[in-house]
Formats: sequence, structure tokens, C-alpha cells
Amino acid sequence: MNDVKTTIDRFPAFSRIVNTEGITLLKNNNNTLPITNNDTVSLFGRSQINYYRSGTGSGGAVNVLYSINALEGLQNNDVKINQELLQIYLDFINKQPFNNGDGSWASEPWHQQELLLTENIVKNAALQSNKAIVFLGRTAGEDNDNHENEGSFKLTKEEMIMIELVTKHFDQVVLIYNVGNIIDMSYLEDHGDKIDSIVYAWQGGMEGGNALGDVLSGKVSPSGKLPDTIAKTISDYPTSKNFGSETKNYYEEDIYVGYRYFETFNRDAVLFPFGYGLSYTTFDVALNSFNYTDKNIVIDVDVKNIGNYNGKEVIQIYVESPQGKLGKPYIELKGFKKTNIIEPNELETVSIHVNVDEFASYDDSGATGFKSAYVLEAGTYNIYYGVNSRELNVAGSFTIDKTTLVEQLQEAAAPIESFKRMIPGDRLQTGEYEIAYQDVPLRTIDLEKRINNNLPKELNKNNNKDITFKDVFDQKASLQDFISTLSIDELSLIVLGEGMSHPLVAPGTAAAFGGLYPELHKLKIPAACAADGPSGLRMDTGHKATQMPIGTLLASTWNTDLIEELYTLEGEELSLNEVDTLLGPGMNIHRHPLCGRNFEYFSEDPYLTGKMATANVLGLRKGGSEGTLKHYAANDQEKARNDVDSILSERALREIHIKGFEMAVKEGKARSVMTAYNPVNGHQSASHYDLCTTILRNEWNYEGMVMTDWWARMNHNVTPDQSSRDRVPEMIRSQNDLYMVIPNFGAADSPHRKNVRKYIENGSLTLAELQRSVYNVLSFVLQAPVMNRPVKTLEILDLKSNTDESAYSTSVNFYATADAKGWLNLEESGTFLIEVAMRSKLSELAQSSCNLVLNEELISNIQSNGTNNEVVIEKVMTIDIPKGVHTLSLGFKKPGLEILSLKFTKI
Ligand code: BGC
Repeated sequence: MNDVKTTIDRFPAFSRIVNTEGITLLKNNNNTLPITNNDTVSLFGRSQINYYRSGTGSGGAVNVLYSINALEGLQNNDVKINQELLQIYLDFINKQPFNNGDGSWASEPWHQQELLLTENIVKNAALQSNKAIVFLGRTAGEDNDNHENEGSFKLTKEEMIMIELVTKHFDQVVLIYNVGNIIDMSYLEDHGDKIDSIVYAWQGGMEGGNALGDVLSGKVSPSGKLPDTIAKTISDYPTSKNFGSETKNYYEEDIYVGYRYFETFNRDAVLFPFGYGLSYTTFDVALNSFNYTDKNIVIDVDVKNIGNYNGKEVIQIYVESPQGKLGKPYIELKGFKKTNIIEPNELETVSIHVNVDEFASYDDSGATGFKSAYVLEAGTYNIYYGVNSRELNVAGSFTIDKTTLVEQLQEAAAPIESFKRMIPGDRLQTGEYEIAYQDVPLRTIDLEKRINNNLPKELNKNNNKDITFKDVFDQKASLQDFISTLSIDELSLIVLGEGMSHPLVAPGTAAAFGGLYPELHKLKIPAACAADGPSGLRMDTGHKATQMPIGTLLASTWNTDLIEELYTLEGEELSLNEVDTLLGPGMNIHRHPLCGRNFEYFSEDPYLTGKMATANVLGLRKGGSEGTLKHYAANDQEKARNDVDSILSERALREIHIKGFEMAVKEGKARSVMTAYNPVNGHQSASHYDLCTTILRNEWNYEGMVMTDWWARMNHNVTPDQSSRDRVPEMIRSQNDLYMVIPNFGAADSPHRKNVRKYIENGSLTLAELQRSVYNVLSFVLQAPVMNRPVKTLEILDLKSNTDESAYSTSVNFYATADAKGWLNLEESGTFLIEVAMRSKLSELAQSSCNLVLNEELISNIQSNGTNNEVVIEKVMTIDIPKGVHTLSLGFKKPGLEILSLKFTKI
């Protein structure tokens, strides 16, 4: 196995810069921050040392070269630290080390036991220092949401005692949140006036501590802005009522997610508004000009630094649309721009362009006279500018006399079950609206007819059987001609991805797809590679990569240029490591603060989400790789993520939950999309015709490939029924092109593949539909970096020859659940197929892995999801081994697997 070229030199340092722009300062009384040369600080809370780089699960599994914690970041910035207190924490952590559960998937607790402070410790610290910094740390992640209780959303008793004692003995107190999503801040009601500064540091990847040190020490003035609203209590979020169901999640809040809800219905519930964040300096923000011509608006805003530090500001543009027949949120974000660094007394004019069509709302009921269309309703549109969603000034306004059609679409993915959704009722004196409810419009179209009327045509058969995929790449033949020569058996292999840790692609990565079998290699179809994602390259072999900040922090920068540049470096790193697409950006909406994967996603707002995802994708492509938009769609809860049905109106789906995807497809020209595990209005996302074909392809003109999430389930395209993993024909029919994943070298004999043939033979799937999905996958591969690499092939994968009884085979009974070493005694030299027998008791989507090492050399990485404790046999690889005694060892990277035996068969 080749060693991995790890990182791009400039990457970690650049990631530190991006980090500093996402760190968000929410309060700073009496200029407590930045820390000056005259200050000595006492650091409280263990996450100063046990700094959280990210959340957990597939999005947090980057193996880093090094990691800088907050303490080191402060030291690197020459901050004077109370050493006596530091020693107390070091001793405590020594005695009570970081608890990562048993190291297996989703077993790490969401907080770490905090030191129980005594009055004496704090009193003493106050004698030795003039400022206190209190660190609060939390993690969360895939397969396991946050919980409302102490230690997750709420603070623990030890943390509360820490805040009480520190605020009692110190005059200047700073609170730092090292978290992946917002957590409870209701205790500020009682302690708020004693806390001078509050910082959301988020989770900053491997350079997070340095960036935090840069900001706290004043080297960089903070410029992060909240991508989510912080409400006073969790029950204030309108999604609280439905979040967490294991069967049906009704999106009653409809389009009123985050600030769209709070600013329309419940302004008092907001502690810190969406878009909010302070700097060490002060800016004077004034309208320079507002120009409205022919649906285009240009707003120029003067930003003057009137303080003593340099700094950056974010100008945000919101629209207030007329309530009309549909009802609208009070305001919606429609543009933003971050300034450059502005020196004291300097002024920068920021120019923001907005197209009026982007103000349109989707009419899913026909109330405006334009059903299934984006419309601009008659009335006055007020455009506001400001530095957050609460402090706004009028930039200008315009009136539309008559409701106008912006884009006629088709009804798609509408709910099939009645429920009520929120709408604005009467306007109150406060300017807010009463909450009213109305019935959600249900599906009226005949889905079966739609699918049948849009069946693709079979490709004209080209008689030249010698065309290879390389000929297509060299433009000697068309992709259609090439595909027309492939048999059902060949085609069906191309829609099945394998993994994880496939020996044909970069080690320890999530999947291989394209050409995985000798018959496809002969046609010169290479094996392409997909790897997690989103905040760095995940290689479960333990190979190192650069870990960037989490999605929420990136969104807090509100700086798309910076994010594009950061992801260009990520693209370069991927390309160096032969990865063809990153499994990111993750871009589901922060619908509720308790979603375990909020850290991977950007924001409660679709516009900010769409801009960030677009910057990701453009950057990755510039760097030489590609991105995969995930998880399409409405996957905003981890509990029961395979089963829970997201039941939502078509308007909420389009305006909120897939808007970001639409932007990244149209503006970022994304070429890869991953569907979600969950059903959307009854249909599993992985076989959802309207999501994958009607909307994505037909409306947005998407030309890339669509893959499922790992081991996803599909159900019937027309009449939603029980889902299962092998219903690949339904996946293909919906135009979700690629199944992820089947165990390595398992696709050939899989029920998934057999089903494809069976459905084609019985007429429930057409050859043309299969060809269409193969076209989508291969057109991705054609543009991927893998085309510039030699086709790797495991010739010996002619699996039939392995059934020869006389073949020499030996097996190592290696029962192991933790690192283990053994011997392999071979009587003959030769090429051996290695197979593993293993099982896992973990949940069905839990990922575990271990390295297989032969004579001290890493030869492969074995991975599995939960197998229900049933034994599975997987082909690992083929390898040349001389006769004699060899050492063999297993190194468990993510425990949870039981390895029962390894079999070596000479082929
Ligand atoms: C996650 C995806 C991830 C994939 C591969 C799934 O469990 O939901 O986001 O990319 O695993 O690791």
C-alpha cells in the first residue's frame, strides 16, 4: 500500500485564519477582551486542554498530524496564565482522563466530567490573576442527537458551580463555548450581568486553539456572526414540539424556521439574534445608495471603523415581503457581504446585488392563482440593511401592483398525509403576528403516470464492441455509444458502489465506485474514490490529513471567498491522495438545536447554507477534486434516521430544506449529491422520484450523479411501503444512480444486482433507466481526477476460480475485538485471496474498522457496519506472499468489530 501524501503546506495555517473569522463574540462589556500584556488569566474548565476539534461520527473522524488546544493557543499568543490553577487542571485530567466511551461508534459522551471547584481554588486564583476564562465544552454527532438534559444541551451541576464561584470571585469573566451547536444559555438570566464577555468558539479543527488564542489576545479582532438564533429556552424553538419522533416528524413550523419564526411571531424569546456578532472595534454603518432597476437592486453601504482596533464587519440584506395570500416571514436574508479589514477611521463601501426574483415565494396551494409556482405577490417590498437580523434600517422599497409569476414548476414531493402548518395570523401592535394554522396542501398528481410518461429512451446500440471508456475520455466515441455496448450484467455493476476501505482506492476511505471488477477494467473504467468529509479527509487506516473547522464555524465567517479558498486547499489535498469526491458539504438545515449533526451543517438559514455550500464545491473543484452535497433531503435529526418520515409541505421543502441544494447545483454546478436515509413524505430519499428526477434533474438541470447514503434503504416509487436495502431497481427508477455501499467484492453476487436483472426481466425497470443511471455515474467519473490515473486492477479477482476445491488455502483463527498479533505459516508462495469472517453487535449504521498488518506493513483496512451480530464473510484483498512464517496483526481503529478468522486462499 502506498503511503499517503498528507497535507498541503499552506493548509493548516490558512485554516487558522478562517477559524479566526468564525469565532463569534456575543458580549464584551468593559473591554474585557482582548487580553492585554498587563493581564494574567485563570483558565477554568477542562476543555481548555481537552479541546473539541469537531463533533463525532463520519464527519469528525479525521486523523490529524497534530492538534492545538485552547491552552496552547493562548500560550502561543504569549498570554500570561495562572500556572497554579493550570497545574490543578492538569492533575485532574491526569486522574480523570478524557472519556471516549469504548472508542466505538457514537459511544463518546457528549460532555466530560468537570472538576468540582472549591471556593478556595477560585479565591486563590483570583489573587493571582485579574481575568478568568471559563471554558464550556460539548460534542455530539452522527447517530446520536443532543439531549435536552444536563451534560448535553444544559450545563451540569459542576459547570454551574464553576460559573457561580468564578463570577463571585472575579470582576472580569469571559465565557467560551467550545461546542458544535448552540447550547442552553438560560442561566444567563441569573448570572448574565456578572459575565463580561461571551464567545462562541465552536470547534475549530486542528488549528482551533491557535485561532482562539489569536482572537482572545487581540491579534485578530473577531468578526464571526451567528448562523443560528439563540433563543432563551429550548421550548421557544417552534420545532421542539415535533423533533425527536421515531416515526413521523411533522414540520408544522413550515417555513418558519429559526429567525423566520422568531422575528415574525416571538421576538422576546430571542437572546441573541441570527446574524449577531461583535468586534473589538465599532463600526458606523450607513446607507450610501439604493438603486432599483429592472428587477435588479444594488445597495451600497458605507462601513466606517470608528473604534480603536482594526476589524471586519458583515453587511446583511433582508427583505420584508407583503403578506399577500401566502403569508411571509417578517424578514428573510437575501444578501450579505463581509468587508476587508478596515483600519480605525477608514471607510469601506460594500456593494451588494440582489435580484428581485429571489424574493419570490412558492405557492403550493394555488392561493395566488399560480399553483406550483414561484410568485412575487402584489404589495410593497421593504429592503433592510444591517449587521444582524434585529438591528435593521430601511435601504429602500418598491411595490409590485399585480401578483406576478416568476417560475412555473410542477407539484413535486407534496405530502400525502394531512396536518396543519403555521402561518401568520393578525398583526399585533408589537409588529409581530399571531400564530394561525392552515391545512397543508396534499399531493394531487399521479406519480405513476408521471414516471411512466417520462421514461427515457433506450440508447441506440452501437455495433462497435471495442469502444472503451478511455476512447470516450479521448473523445473518440460518445458516452452514449459506449454505454449502449454494455450488457445488463456490466451495467448493474456500475450502479453498485463498494466499501468501506476498498483496496482499489485510497486507503481507509468510504467507498469505491465505477470500475471495480475485471470485466470493467478491461473496458478501461477506473475505480473512483469517495471519502468523508466534510471537514477534512477521513482515512480509517490512521493516515493523517488536515482537519478544518466544522460547518457551523465556517458559516459563522459569512465570508464565501475565504471558504472557497479553504476548500481549494482541501481539493488539492484530496487530489494528492487520489480522492475523487469529498462526502461533503453537509448542508441540512439547523432546524433544531438538538440535531446531533448540526456541527457538520451550516445554518438555520437556507440562503447562508446555499452560499457556503457553493463556495465549498467551487473550491474543491478548483483544487482538483469535487464535493458531494448531502443529505438530500430533510435529514435534520439523527434519532431513527433510517425510519423517521419527514412530513412537510412542498413550500417548506422548496423554500427552506432544499433551497441550499438548489443554489449549490445552479451556482456551484455541483456534480455529486448524496440522498438521505430518511423518507420524505413517505418515500425513502434514496428512491424518491420527485426529489431525484422532477426537481433535481428536470427543474434544476442537474447533470451529475446521485448516490445513496451508506447502506440506505429504498421503498416503492409510487406507493410507499416497507423499505429494504436491496431494492436497487427502485433507486434506479428514481434516478438515484449509485448504491452505497456493498461489502468489498460483494456486488457481483449481491441480491442488489440480482434484483436489477429480475426487475428488467419482469418489466418493472427498463434497460433505458439503468443506462441513464450508468450515464450519470460515468459522466461523473469522466470528469474526475481518476481519469488521469492508471486503471488499478486486481486481476485475480476472477472469483470463480476460487471455488476450485484443490486450491491451497489456510486460515488464521484470529478471534479478536482488540489489537492482536498472530502468525501465518504458508507452505507455498503465491497470490492469495484474503477473506475475513466478522460480525458486529453495533447498530446497523455504526461504522467500525481495523487495520490488517502483514510483517509490520499495513496491507488493508477492514470495515463494517453493524451486522446484527450475524457473521459476514468479506473478501478483503489479494496479495502476493512468499512461503514461510509471517506476522499478522490487527489494529483496531474504531472498535465494535469481532474478527473471527482470516482465510488465505491461493489463486
Ligand atoms: C453518513 C454519511 C457519510 C457516510 C460514509 C453515513 O453514515 O450519514 O454522511 O458520508 O456514512 O461514512
